[in-house]
Formats: sequence, C-alpha cells, structure tokens
Amino acid sequence: MLSAERIMQRCDALARHSELAGGLTRVFLSPENRAANELVLGWMREAGMQAKLDAIGNVAGRYEGDRPGLPCLMLGSHLDTVRDAGRYDGMLGVVSAIECVAFFNAQKKRFPFAIEVFGFGDEEGVRFGTTMLGSRAIAGVFDERNLQATDSRGMTLESALREFGLDPKKIPQVKKERSDVLAYAELHIEQGPVLEAEGLPVGVVTAINGFSRLRVTLSGMAGHAGTVPMNLRRDALVAAAGCITAVEQIARTNLDVVATVGRIEASPGAINVIPGKVVFTIDIRAPRDELRLSCVDQVRREITAICEKRKIRIEIENLQELGVAQCAPWLIAQIERAVAAEGLRVRRLPSGAGHDGMALHAIADIAMLFVRCKDGISHNPAESISVEDAGAGARVLSRFIEEFRAVPA
Ligand code: GLV
Ligand code: MN
Ligand code: MN
Repeated sequence: MLSAERIMQRCDALARHSELAGGLTRVFLSPENRAANELVLGWMREAGMQAKLDAIGNVAGRYEGDRPGLPCLMLGSHLDTVRDAGRYDGMLGVVSAIECVAFFNAQKKRFPFAIEVFGFGDEEGVRFGTTMLGSRAIAGVFDERNLQATDSRGMTLESALREFGLDPKKIPQVKKERSDVLAYAELHIEQGPVLEAEGLPVGVVTAINGFSRLRVTLSGMAGHAGTVPMNLRRDALVAAAGCITAVEQIARTNLDVVATVGRIEASPGAINVIPGKVVFTIDIRAPRDELRLSCVDQVRREITAICEKRKIRIEIENLQELGVAQCAPWLIAQIERAVAAEGLRVRRLPSGAGHDGMALHAIADIAMLFVRCKDGISHNPAESISVEDAGAGARVLSRFIEEFRAVPA
C-alpha cells in the first residue's frame, strides 16, 4: 500500500535536520544536508534500491528493471532548502518517488525499465548563489567555473565538496547520456494558488518558466552622516532604492513577467555612515525567453541611467540564466491519463518556480506533476499540504510509472 502518512512523516523527519532552530534551513554540503542524505539513503535501500551518494552530492537510488542495466525512468527532486523554508518544496518529490518504489518492491514488480530516484543536493542555489548544481552535473551541463563560487564565509564549492568527502574531479563521471534516461518526471508542490482555487489536488505542468539572475554592485562614496550636505552625496543605497523600484515597475508593465530583489547588502552598514557600496540581486522570470531577455535589457538600461544621474559606479553580473523548459507532450499525455484514471479532473498549468527539470532537459524529456499547497504559500515556513493530497499525488505518480511507455528517441 502507498502510505500518505509515511510520506508526511518522512517530510517531517527531514525537516528536523536544519541549521535554523525552530525552523528549516538546510543548505548544500552542510552537516544537516549530510544527515538528510543518510535518512534518504536508508529509505531507498529499504525500498529495494541500490543507493549511493554521487560525486556532486546527490543521493541516487536505482531499482533495476526486469533485467539489469536497462535505461531508467528518472524521478526525484531536491533535498536542499531556502532559508526558513517549508518542508515539502523538493522533499515531497523525493519521498513520494521512494514510496512508489517501495510499493512496487513489496509486490516484487519489475518493469521493462529501471527506476532511478534522485535527491538532488542543490536546487535552490542558496549557499553558492548558483542553482541546480546536482542536476546540472547529471545532465552534463555543470560549469567547472562554479567550483570557484564561494559561500558567505568565502569557502569555495570545490573546498566544500572535499570537506564533505567528495572528489570534485569525479563530477564529470556522474553525467548521464540521453540513451540512459527514458524520461525525467518530478512530483512537486505547486507553490502557487491555482489548484486550491479550483479545488483540485493535482495538476499537470506544461512548462517551467525561464529565469535570469543578476548581481548588481553600486559604488558611491561613504561619508559622515552628519556633515555631508544632501546635494553633495553619492549614496549607493538611495540609488539602489531607485533601481529596485524600477525593477518592480518593469515587471508590472510586462504581463507574465515577475521580478524580485531578494537580497541586498549595504556597506559599511552603520547608522551614521552614508552607504558607499550596495550589492543586490535581481531574479527575473517569464514564460517566454524573448520576453524575459527584453526585460533584462530594460532593467540594465534603467538602472544604468539611474546610477549615471547619481554619479554611482555600477557593475552588473549575470549570475545564471535558464531558458523555458517545455514538458514533453507525450509525457504530459501519460501523466494526464494517470490523473484521469485516479478519477481526478485534469488541469494543466505552467510552473513559475524553477525545478531540476530545467537542467535535465538537456538529456531527457521532462514532465511534472504538481500537488496542491495551502494558500499557495511556499518558500515560507507556513508551506503546507494535506495528507490526502500527498496520497493523491503518490497514487497518480505510481500509476504513471506502472503505465509508463517510453517513446522511441
Ligand atoms: C526554486 O525554488 C526557484 O524557483 O527559485
Ligand atoms: Mn524552492
Ligand atoms: Mn523546489
């Protein structure tokens, strides 16, 4: 039997591995990440999988098909979280996939394909500022330069991997070929309000919106808050305030575009000092790549103009960019069949949030199943789903797997 209760309990168990007392923060390659990995490895083995930690820090489990060595249907999601996160974003997809495999294993059911379940080590990109390190390595699109990315304490990804007991030189070995992977399917909470508004427990994803991430550094002149007249200041934080408002305005005037300044740091950061330097991030997303790119151009132009007027030096770095990832029509059709067979209305919807499928798209056709979340809340400790919806999601996923038919590549 698929157990929705066990899925919920396992999400709770993972949530206990957190650096944040009384909340959930679990970043890539942290001690909490290691503890969560151990739990997931144990559950995978219990479910009849061979399981290991790979060279980039993904937990990878394999359930052989009706003979060894067959190409796989890849499932999973991520095990890292944002800061002060909810407990389902990522983890629900991993534990639901394990639950399905345990269900098949209990019936000694094997398929004409293997099943691989991944708990990706880094999807959120919280620690090193660049997302999907785990799934990008699997897809062979890991950028070696990312090894030199640093965390807030100045530790490089390369050192963090070594400290975790992993060998960065082996990262290229985790790459899968297109011929190894029949498809990638991910169950994930919706993280938005659409399914709840329509009274539906699950939805079928059509595409994942693309994103651009920028880091902007504004350099003005630090000075005494009491002595420098207002007309002689080069205050980087006031300039940043104008830039942030401009970012919001650009997103508001372009339908379907969303833009967020999620992090800002002002230096030197004292009550009586004019801020001389500000660094902030911008995250821009849209369902069409050309629309997103034109907004990025607009943002660059607008903030450059604002800073020129204020005599503020500006540097804009492109941190990361991922295009729209379309879900494959043949997989959408199979997920929809599974939804309908469970007696549920089929509802298609796009994903505004990013997911590992964006990286895996490079080697496999992808599909996603969304599970309703309460009040559309995510990236927030109030993120919540019902046990009934966890059950509905797992049933649809398991039916999809059982009836999965690979289309010839
Ligand atoms: C990941 O959750 C993202 O969409 O940023
Ligand atoms: Mn997330
Ligand atoms: Mn997620």
